[in-house]
Amino acid sequence: MNNRQQPGIPLCTLEQLRAKRSLGISVEIGGREQAVFVVLDGDSVRGYIDRCPHRGTPLAWMPDNYLDSRGEHLICATHGALFRIGDGRCIAGPCQGDALEPIAIKVSGDTVMLVERLD
Ligand code: FES
Repeated sequence: MNNRQQPGIPLCTLEQLRAKRSLGISVEIGGREQAVFVVLDGDSVRGYIDRCPHRGTPLAWMPDNYLDSRGEHLICATHGALFRIGDGRCIAGPCQGDALEPIAIKVSGDTVMLVERLD
């Protein structure tokens, strides 16, 4: 496997992300449409596939709403599993110990981009 990387696929702007803190986006990965989301984590941006490791459902309880009421964790709308924002690890709920699937993110200027590896 090599780790060549594409320049990146634009997902949103930092301004759009700052306005909502998390955003759901549909993007083509490996020739397939895939639901992903990005979330602000302090000054960093994290990104994950929008699929709960418990039952495989999308996480958001409303469009673009992936955070719990305190804004401290990601939450799955189906059964309420809580995930750390920084690494996607489930810390409470039926999939405790599992994790969300991360996507590689880079920020270029004001643009949040998905970095798709060419394996
Ligand atoms: S589907 Fe996410 S906690 Fe059950």
